[in-house]
Amino acid sequence: MSQLFTPFTLRDLTLKNRTVVAPMCQYTARHGFINDWHFAHLARFGIGGFGLVFVEATAVSPEGRISYADAGLWSDEQIEPYRRIVDFLHSQGAAAGIQLAHAGRKASTPVPFRPNPTDAEKVATAYEDWQPIAPSAIIHSDRMPGFKVPREMTLDDIRRFKQSYIQSVHRAEKAGFDTIEIHAAHGYLLNQFLSPLANKRQDDYGGSLDNRMRLLLELTEDVRAAWPSGKPLFVRISASDNHPEGWSVEDSAVLAGKLKALGVDAIDVSSGGFDGAAFNPKALYQLPLSRQVREQAGIPTAAVGLITTAEEGEAIVASGDADLVALARQALDDPNWPLHAHHTLDKGEKPYADWPLQAGYAVRNKDRSLKERAFSVA
Ligand SMILES: Cc1cc2nc3c(=O)[nH]c(=O)nc-3n(C[C@H](O)[C@H](O)[C@H](O)COP(=O)(O)O)c2cc1C
Repeated sequence: MSQLFTPFTLRDLTLKNRTVVAPMCQYTARHGFINDWHFAHLARFGIGGFGLVFVEATAVSPEGRISYADAGLWSDEQIEPYRRIVDFLHSQGAAAGIQLAHAGRKASTPVPFRPNPTDAEKVATAYEDWQPIAPSAIIHSDRMPGFKVPREMTLDDIRRFKQSYIQSVHRAEKAGFDTIEIHAAHGYLLNQFLSPLANKRQDDYGGSLDNRMRLLLELTEDVRAAWPSGKPLFVRISASDNHPEGWSVEDSAVLAGKLKALGVDAIDVSSGGFDGAAFNPKALYQLPLSRQVREQAGIPTAAVGLITTAEEGEAIVASGDADLVALARQALDDPNWPLHAHHTLDKGEKPYADWPLQAGYAVRNKDRSLKERAFSVA
C-alpha cells in the first residue's frame, strides 16, 4: 500500500491523497474575471484524481496583478465563477484551494505567451498597464524587459494592502474554498518585503529580519482570524533566494516556526524569484529545502519542483521530505497523473475506484481486454 495515496488531515479538512496541483497562472482573465478556460483547466485535475487543487495566484487588488490577464478577487462580482470550480472539484472528491497574491514590483508585466501584443490583441484581451508598488522604489531587473520602477509603498498603502487581502479572504470563503495559500514566494510582494534584495526600507517594515518578516506575520495573523478556524491555511515561500546577499533557508526555518505559531498549517516550499539568483533546476531540486523547513520548524510541508514520476512522489512522502507532493508542469502534461500513479504504485483493482464513475468501468474493461495493469499476466 503506497503512502502517496493515503489521506492527510489538516484541521477539519481531510485530503483523499497527498497529490496537489500547484497554482498556475493562466493569463486568461479579463479585468480579473476568470472564465470557462479556468474552469476547464482546473476541472480536469479533479477528474484526474488530485487530492487538492490550487487556483492560480489571484490578485487581491487590480495593481497586484502580474499582468492585465491575471485572475482577481477584489470585488464581489468576481466570486461566482470560482464557486462553480469549487463545486465541481468537490463533486470529484478533490479539495479546492486558492492562492491569494500581490505581485508588488513584478506587476504589470507582459503575458509570457504574448510578449508584444498588437493593438488588436490589446483590445481583444482587455490590456491594461500601470505603475507597480513595492517595499522600495527599486526595479526588479534592468536586464530583463517588461519590468517597471515601482513606487515605494507608504504605511497607508501597506494598510490598504492588508485590508484588500482580508476582503479577498472573505470572498474566498463565500466561494466555498477549503483552504487559502498566502503567496509569499517567487519575488512577489510579500517575498519582496522578506528579502534584503528588494527591501531597503528604513521604517518598521525594513532592515532587521524581524522587520522584514513583519508584514507577512501581521497579515497571517489577520488572515487566520478572518478564515474559519476549521479550515487550514497554507503559506508558499521561496525558502532561499539562491543569492549570497539574499534570504536563506535558515531564515525560512525561523519564519516557518513563527507562521506555525500563528496558526499556519502547512508550508509550500518553493525557491527563487529574484534577478541574479543562481538557478539550476533539475529533478527534485527543491526537496532539500522542504525537508529542512519541515524538520527545523516541525510543520507539514508540500514539496514542489520537477517532480514527475509516481515513484518520486511515493519516496517524498515515505522518506519524510514532505507531507504533500505538488505538481505544476507535470500536471499540465498529464492531468490524470494521480490516476496513473495509483496504478503504478498499488497494483490490483483498487486504483480503478479513483476514476470518475463515467470512466472507471470503461478503463477497467479496456485494461482487461489488453491484459494491462490489474489484468497483466506476470
Ligand atoms: C504556467 C505556470 C504558471 C505558474 N503560476 C504560478 C502561480 O500562480 N503561483 C505560484 O506560486 N507559482 C506558479 N508557478 C510555479 C509552479 O506553481 C511550480 O512551483 C513550478 O512550476 C515548479 O513545479 P513544476 O516543476 O512541477 O512545474 C507557475 C508555473 C507554471 C509552469
